[in-house]
This record gives sequence, structure tokens and C-alpha cells, in this order.
Amino acid sequence: MNDASTPGLPGTRPLVTIQSHILQQQARYPEATGDFSWILSAISISAKMISAQVRRARLEDVLGHVGSQNVQGETQQKLDVIANDILMRNLAGRQGVAVVASEENEQPVILHDQNDGETRYCVMFDPLDGSSNLDIAGGVGTIFSILRKDRRSTNIADSLLQPGTRQVAAGYVLYGSSTVMALTIGNGVDLFVLDPSIGAFIRVGESLRIPPKQKCYSLNEGNRLTLPEGYQRYLHWAQDSGYSSRYVGAMVADVHRILIQGGVFLYPPTKKAPKGKLRLMYEANPMAMLVEQAGGKALVAPGERILDVKPTEVHQRTTVVLGSADEVDQVMSHL
Ligand code: AHG
Ligand code: MN
Ligand code: MN
Repeated sequence: MNDASTPGLPGTRPLVTIQSHILQQQARYPEATGDFSWILSAISISAKMISAQVRRARLEDVLGHVGSQNVQGETQQKLDVIANDILMRNLAGRQGVAVVASEENEQPVILHDQNDGETRYCVMFDPLDGSSNLDIAGGVGTIFSILRKDRRSTNIADSLLQPGTRQVAAGYVLYGSSTVMALTIGNGVDLFVLDPSIGAFIRVGESLRIPPKQKCYSLNEGNRLTLPEGYQRYLHWAQDSGYSSRYVGAMVADVHRILIQGGVFLYPPTKKAPKGKLRLMYEANPMAMLVEQAGGKALVAPGERILDVKPTEVHQRTTVVLGSADEVDQVMSHL
């Protein structure tokens, strides 16, 4: 008999949509009010809407720049702005969300400002990751992180500045050859695929585990000569040891490959980006939570977890080394 069978229905596996999955998870906490589940549902609806826009790129006028830059000085693509609006508008309808921070907004946006315990969560996101891949129909994604509001902060926006260990959920959506969502609620990582014919995310994997070893590294090798020496030593060693190199240039796509197949993703400090390029709060932290929940490692330096970094600003950048536990250890042993 098949392990995954439902008692009484030999050979059948239950079909679980993301909504049923969220309700199953909520049932583990009898005191839950449902606010958190409503936030996850806003994210899954947003993912479907963004997926629909991405899939119609070039058929509709959604490609190209909007002619402005975001707070990080990066050129905003039209779809960056569209994806940001979709997430903002869906989350604005959820009373449980106090404050939202996005790569595309200079300041956090306060959605519901009550101090009566009703607004308990902060949501942070990169609405469209890897957006420079859009013009070539490459993989792009959305990354999100959910924190409980820090009640000790007097200023509601400051309640965002908590280390990644305080995340209650994190995930990404990859708009690739299919639309895939990886989600953790602090209890392992589950994987969903959007069935476009019915508009539902269906669970396709539970409690994913990253293979502990895989001879594959993922970084922008164009930066090689400006990396700190330890990373250059690691690259020499990896190439001498028969490693492959894979780099999409969209973190969601690169990390998804590593979650499924193993390997290590690196974005070290470079001459252009001396503090690293990737953003701690809405790129590194959610990916680090997913990777750790799947049995991998996510570090900024030997012995220093990404999730332990104490943030001082919403858009701060960080070094990122994450993936298979043994492969992250190999990088660290060269630093
Ligand atoms: P975004 O499109 O949200 O600005 O993020 C792009 C990021 C990330 O997805 C990717 O890993 C990295 O930038 C690629 O940077 P390089 O082009 O410097 O390699
Ligand atoms: Mn990004
Ligand atoms: Mn982005």
C-alpha cells in the first residue's frame, strides 16, 4: 500500500490546496484568531495576480522601465511597481497587518495603526525579485517575510527592525516554467504549484530537505577579482575540485534550485557593493529561514547566522552564503 494513501481510499493521496494547508496549520494553535491565515491568503492571491501579469508580459504593455528609481537607486521596472501595488492592496484588506515594508517603498507603510492588540503582524517583501530577467522571459519571483509586531517599540515602523529569528513565516513564489511557492510557518518547508486551469496552489511537497552536499556554487563570477580573498580561495578550491557553476541572477530562481537539488548560493561583498548587494529584511532573512527549516545553513560569516543579524534599517544590505550544510561549511572554511 502506498505510504501517502488516505485510510479507506487505497492508492489515493489527498489533494491539498494552500487554503486547506493554512487551515490545517492554524488548527495546531487553538488560540489562533485567524488573522495570520488571512495574511497568508492575501499573499497567495497576490501571487496568482502577479503570476498572471508576468505570464502576459510583452502581450500587454507591462515590460520596461517606469522612468524612476527606487530607494536603492535601482531602475524600477513597470512590473516591479505593478507587483508592489498588488501586494499592498491585498494586504491593506487584512486587519491583522500593522505595517508593510517593501523594496519598492522608501518608508514602511502603516496600514492599520491600533494599539489594542488587533494589529499584530508586520509583512515585508521584495515584490518582484530578479526583475531585470523580465525582458528575456527568465525566472522572476516574490519573496516575503512575516514578523509579529514588536510591542516594545513605541514607533510602529520601528517594530519591523527585529532579527530574522523572530519571523513567524517566510516564503517565495517563483514565476518560472511553472509558478511555485515555497512556504515555512516555522514547521518545515512545504511546496505548492499553481494549477492555472483552476487558479489554485496545490501542495506538491512537504517537509522538504536540502541535500546536504552538491558540488555546485551559484554566484556572479564577474565580481570575482573584487571579492574578499577568502571567497577567491574558495572559488579556486571549488574549481579544482570539479564543482559546477549555475547562476540565474534572480535570487528566487537560484535559491529554488538549491532547495531542490542542493549547492551553495553566495553574494559576498564586492567593490560595487561593499556591504553585499542583497537586502537583509526581505531577501536574506526569508531565504535563510526557508533554508534552515529545510536543514541547510545560512550565514554571513563563520559562525554568524543571517537570522541573528540585528537590523538597524529596513533596506540594509548583507553578505549571503546559504544552501547545503556541507557546502556552506566549505565556503566558511576558506574565509
Ligand atoms: P531585484 O530584482 O529585486 O533588485 O533583485 C536582484 C538581486 C537578486 O535577485 C539577484 O540574486 C541579484 O540581484 C543579482 O545581482 P547581480 O546582477 O549583481 O549578480
Ligand atoms: Mn530582489
Ligand atoms: Mn525586486
